[in-house]
Amino acid sequence: MPDSENILYRERLKYKPRLPDVLNKNILSVGFKTKPAVVGAGISPSLQKLFPNLIQFSTVEIAASNSNKGDSSSNSNFRIGVVLGGGQAPGGHNVIAGLYDAIKKFDDQNSLVGFLGGSEGLLKGQFIEITGEMVDSYRNTGGFDLIGSGRGRLDDSSQFAICGKMVEKLKLDGVVFVGGHDTNTNAAMLAEYFLSAGIGCKVIGVPKTIDGDLRSTAIEIPFGFDTATKVYTELVGNIMKDAISAKKYWHFIKLMGRTASHIALEVALRTKPNVVLISEEIQAKGMTLSQITNYIIKIILDRVEKGYSFGVVLIPEGLIGFVPEVKMLISEINNILDKRDKELQSRISLTDKTIFIQNILSTQSSMVFKSIPFEIQKQLIMERDPHGNVQVSLIDTERLLIYLLTMRMKELRMSGEFKEEFLTQRHFFGYEGRCGYPTNFDADYTYSLGMTAFLLIRFGLTGYMAHVSGLKGDVKDWRCGGVPFSYLLEITQRYNEEVPSLKKSFVSLESKSFKTLAKLRESWALENDYSYPGPIQYFGVSELVNQRPKTLELDDL
Ligand code: FBP
Repeated sequence: MPDSENILYRERLKYKPRLPDVLNKNILSVGFKTKPAVVGAGISPSLQKLFPNLIQFSTVEIAASNSNKGDSSSNSNFRIGVVLGGGQAPGGHNVIAGLYDAIKKFDDQNSLVGFLGGSEGLLKGQFIEITGEMVDSYRNTGGFDLIGSGRGRLDDSSQFAICGKMVEKLKLDGVVFVGGHDTNTNAAMLAEYFLSAGIGCKVIGVPKTIDGDLRSTAIEIPFGFDTATKVYTELVGNIMKDAISAKKYWHFIKLMGRTASHIALEVALRTKPNVVLISEEIQAKGMTLSQITNYIIKIILDRVEKGYSFGVVLIPEGLIGFVPEVKMLISEINNILDKRDKELQSRISLTDKTIFIQNILSTQSSMVFKSIPFEIQKQLIMERDPHGNVQVSLIDTERLLIYLLTMRMKELRMSGEFKEEFLTQRHFFGYEGRCGYPTNFDADYTYSLGMTAFLLIRFGLTGYMAHVSGLKGDVKDWRCGGVPFSYLLEITQRYNEEVPSLKKSFVSLESKSFKTLAKLRESWALENDYSYPGPIQYFGVSELVNQRPKTLELDDL
């Protein structure tokens, strides 16, 4: 990693994350306060059955010295493991740095091992001993490359038993799972297994995902969202500047975010595009593909009347999964992939595969399938990821919309209702945002999360997600603690099977941030009131370098 000729890299290594008072004072003497447990309250019977131990736990908050110290007194030497899971998110290295520094503050003999390539590393015993030198060359940097990440599944008892043997062999007191829904769901299951099997190793999660959809009253925002959205904001702003300079293209920009539209909403509030689609609203209104097309066409025509044959449209990556007829189509395809995959795979060419699918779909879904271009049909029947998710980042939704709009434009041209040219450019901003140098906010937040994760283990707690709250306020006032995984789980349907999963949060149409957008978007549609926020700033005026996500600032959770 050392990239010493790179000035920004060198300067970022020196950045000292700001810490909340509770971690900044003497962390050797902190303890924790517990909120009374309401065992099983609000937790479904199926979850109670799956997590009989975790449902007993209650929220904890790290507090000054005269509070509960847990069973930490019985152990002074700690050996901890860390796993990074899922998609990269800026700040992962600072979670490791926070963990490492906290561990070493207690005792220099304490050690940290990093499992390589996600949970696979834990299963296969592939790991590295993390040294101070390594940590020092990754502080405040983006990426997960120190130990790598993975999307491997860790959700059956034979795998849990292997993990149990591994943590005992490596004499680990705890494992910290840094991840999104899938990683943390697996961590919750592992924590429950360890408890029921009498394995003393503690399991703690850390909330990560650029998608933002781990938000809840307990998790104000997952880490990585701030940096990723600021990178997209810069890129979208630059495209807007190009659009208004050249005045000839409509730009269709798909923004990452597998399911929820938090990223699209945040970027829209910062840049003021002519159109932004919010999947949750489209679902609530039951808008079909043709209604979405008509909505955009109207804005294009209204702008033409004002003399503007250009514009910018933001599209959330997960959109198609929210359009009723496509949602139904995807669910039918999922069923086919689940039940008739062998027959499907026996068709060699992609054309044969799409014909096979088309013939067994319901009449309505078959019509929808036929109405979309072959390229998108192929993308829809692609393999799901190991957790059964449609790989929406590989589906060209922006291309689908351009195709549908172009078709409509042709009709309008033929009927004489539209005479202008309709020139388009398409973009996908996703991977560009996942590995940038974390913003000061993400650097501070993740460093605190890492320290908190260690303290939870030290208190003898397991089955918790580390959390830091009060994030809208001054860093020194942030509160740190843990929320039991059981509070964050729900039962979902995956391939006709009921499985536990961390709750996903969606954009609420009642939230202040959505209402702000809804109020302003009509004027954004017709004017060229674009905003160009520019690149992330790491040094300089506090107002600029410590900006929080707009949606975090606006919303009360
Ligand atoms: P996580 O949920 O693991 O944080 O990943 C989210 C994400 O970045 C999505 O926005 C995107 O759809 C997906 O990862 C892409 O996955 P991959 O990295 O496997 O291509």
